Amino acid sequence: MRKFEARPVRRVSGTAAVPGDKSISHRALMLSGIAEGTSEVTGFLAGEDCLASLTAMRALGVKIERRSANHVLIHGVGLHGLRGADRALDMGNAGTAMRLFTGLLSAQPFDSQLIGDVSLMKRPMERVATPLRAMGADVRTRNGTPPVDISGSRKLHGIDYRMPVASAQVKSAVLLAALYADGATTVTSPAICRDHSERMLASCGVRVDIDGLRATLHPPMALAAQRLNVPGDFSSAAFFMVAGLLGATDEGLLIRNVGLNPTRTGLLDILRSMGGDIEILNARDSGAEPVADLRVRASALRGVEVAATLVPLAIDELPVLFIAAACATGETRVTGAEELRVKESDRIAAMSAGLASLGVAHSVLPDGMQIEGRGTGHAFSGGEIDSRGDHRIAMSFSIASLRAAGSIVIRDVANVATSFPGFVDLAGAVGLDVRESAL
Ligand code: S3P
Repeated sequence: MRKFEARPVRRVSGTAAVPGDKSISHRALMLSGIAEGTSEVTGFLAGEDCLASLTAMRALGVKIERRSANHVLIHGVGLHGLRGADRALDMGNAGTAMRLFTGLLSAQPFDSQLIGDVSLMKRPMERVATPLRAMGADVRTRNGTPPVDISGSRKLHGIDYRMPVASAQVKSAVLLAALYADGATTVTSPAICRDHSERMLASCGVRVDIDGLRATLHPPMALAAQRLNVPGDFSSAAFFMVAGLLGATDEGLLIRNVGLNPTRTGLLDILRSMGGDIEILNARDSGAEPVADLRVRASALRGVEVAATLVPLAIDELPVLFIAAACATGETRVTGAEELRVKESDRIAAMSAGLASLGVAHSVLPDGMQIEGRGTGHAFSGGEIDSRGDHRIAMSFSIASLRAAGSIVIRDVANVATSFPGFVDLAGAVGLDVRESAL
């Protein structure tokens, strides 16, 4: 087992460029794989989650060349060119891969089985199986969790589906299956959630009509290959945004090339409402996605009540928001975030246990948390916490070292490599002192 020791530091400075966006990298592999011709993707996230998708696409007959770690050429086989894998497809820790592949594979003329690591094998899959069955797919789970067994050769039809939760993974799984249906499919979300699939499908020439919270896909004859430069992952930048607010030197911490898709930037709005000084520089587009650089300055944060509408737009960033909240003056309250309980870990329980070990007063709510900010000065004692194998918990507590009285030892950190290869080095480059070793 691997651990981090995050030693107390006071200051961060300089420039950080975070790795490519995980959500976009998964989608790039899948859509390019079923497009006509060769797609070129730069800025690809070479994290374990996306590599699980890459390996799965290869097992399904797609030739993928890696020019370098982050530069891939995907030779599309066309909408009807995938072939069955000769064994179960292992999605590792990647919920996005498992859910999106369930949609894509539901529409194929062959059978498939999807498996994953200990965490993924416990995560809910009926949320994708239910709408796919309504389309005519044959998808089976084991008591709601993986393995996911898919029988092929089912004729799919278009549906009008209202999602009970605002999940981009569910929406994307349905839209992927809908590429093969015999009519249009509409997915309606109860709230805004990330729209990378809709944007990339449109870039590949697929007609997707957006009407508020409704997305309607019209099945295409073919998808066009794409040339894509994946923006830096906002969710990875989030750790450095909070680090900058807690300890940037006067010139600020610059985070370059961050994807600022408005369905992802809830944390930016929340941190600004807490008094965080985050400047957006050089705003531009990278293909279908908005991108910018962020200059973050040290700021005295105030606790806030987080608006429910911002929760789905910040869902992956809530663990590091809890760290910021512990360093604010006053109380921060997050509700409506019950989805945190079914992520790579139960993130409410994992954050609560870690905050308790480091002396932060808080109350756990069924769907969120209330945190008593400690204001300026030390917000955390030193101590030991367990990331529960969850990359975002491990990285969040690393950032706490900027306001800690002693070292924070974080257990079970190997999964940081699922989303953020090079985290320790980048943290070190801006002034954090995070050391990785065997436990
Ligand atoms: C993702 C959607 C979100 C997010 C996950 C990535 C995606 O999950 O938490 O990290 O790429 O579609 P849900 O769809 O479960 O909200």
